Amino acid sequence: MALRKIYGNSNVIASDLREQNPLLEGTGPYVGLDVMNKGMLHVQIIRQNITQIYLLAAILSATGEKNPGLAWQLNMQGLLNVLEIAREEKLHKVYWPSSIAVFGPTSPKLNCPQHTIIEPITVYGISKYAGEFWCNYYHMKYGVDVRSIRYPGLISYKSAPGGGTTDYAVEIFLEALEEKKYQCFLKEDTYLPMMYMPDAIRATIELMESPAEKISVRTSYNVSSMSFSPKEIGAEIKKHIPDFSIDYKPDYRQAIADSWPQSIDDNVARHDWGWKEEFKLEAMTKDMLTNLQN
Ligand SMILES: NC(=O)c1ccc[n+]([C@@H]2O[C@H](COP(=O)([O-])OP(=O)(O)OC[C@H]3O[C@@H](n4cnc5c(N)ncnc54)[C@H](O)[C@@H]3O)[C@@H](O)[C@H]2O)c1
Repeated sequence: MALRKIYGNSNVIASDLREQNPLLEGTGPYVGLDVMNKGMLHVQIIRQNITQIYLLAAILSATGEKNPGLAWQLNMQGLLNVLEIAREEKLHKVYWPSSIAVFGPTSPKLNCPQHTIIEPITVYGISKYAGEFWCNYYHMKYGVDVRSIRYPGLISYKSAPGGGTTDYAVEIFLEALEEKKYQCFLKEDTYLPMMYMPDAIRATIELMESPAEKISVRTSYNVSSMSFSPKEIGAEIKKHIPDFSIDYKPDYRQAIADSWPQSIDDNVARHDWGWKEEFKLEAMTKDMLTNLQN
């Protein structure tokens, strides 16, 4: 929808494996498509005169651990299909998100830098890290203008969580409003980097609209806006819903969360293309609850 605002509804072709997306119905062109089907993808790109691709299709961290083979296949082959077609058809730009999941237990926990030790332990993290180097390779070798951000956990009131380790930070709002209580699958003091969706969308578009000479990182940029724990977001929600309560029952996702940094240093993104967040925990919580209640 943000791209449609910039380029006009009819100039943005939305696409997914799903036949339709209720959020997009009636807003502009939509094509059901499997990104693994390179032939059909290529046909659509030529037929629709596509000049830029935003590739978001992926299997996320928690779901990936349940089916590592499929996660690797989709996350890698989907990207390679897009990069290869971008090269052949000389597309103007490609966007592909990486994730803080590239970092592993040997990366610094606090203010994890852009360039550091990166030894991911999930198949999702491995696929994102490999993907970052494919992006860099296609840029260096073929001049494909592919750009990327390592998203933190994304929090949105519009779309349901997609099987990631940070899903709790979305679920907690829905349950707080419906049930006034939430059982969290992470421990109360698990700090993770997070971002509110409006900031994530703005970061993406600002990166993509920047002049190419400002982009010094062709693997993927660290971006950051806030870090909090389940206990802290629970307390923030309680300010608005006084009888809200939270308890904790950590599951397999705790080990994934423990392998990631607690906070991210994004000075390179701030320097290169002027990244700056708008939302911290307090403002995000207020905005989430307002929008979910409407
Ligand atoms: N949500 C987060 O917190 C987060 C954090 C870091 C990075 N990311 C990245 O951002 C991107 C979007 O994440 P999301 O949260 O929207 O995930 P999501 O799971 O909500 O959406 C992924 C979409 O991909 C589609 N898809 C799956 N297989 C496909 C295929 N073969 N062909 C076409 N479409 C297919 C699914 O139907 C789904 O709609 C992903 O690349 C993800 O790795 C997300």
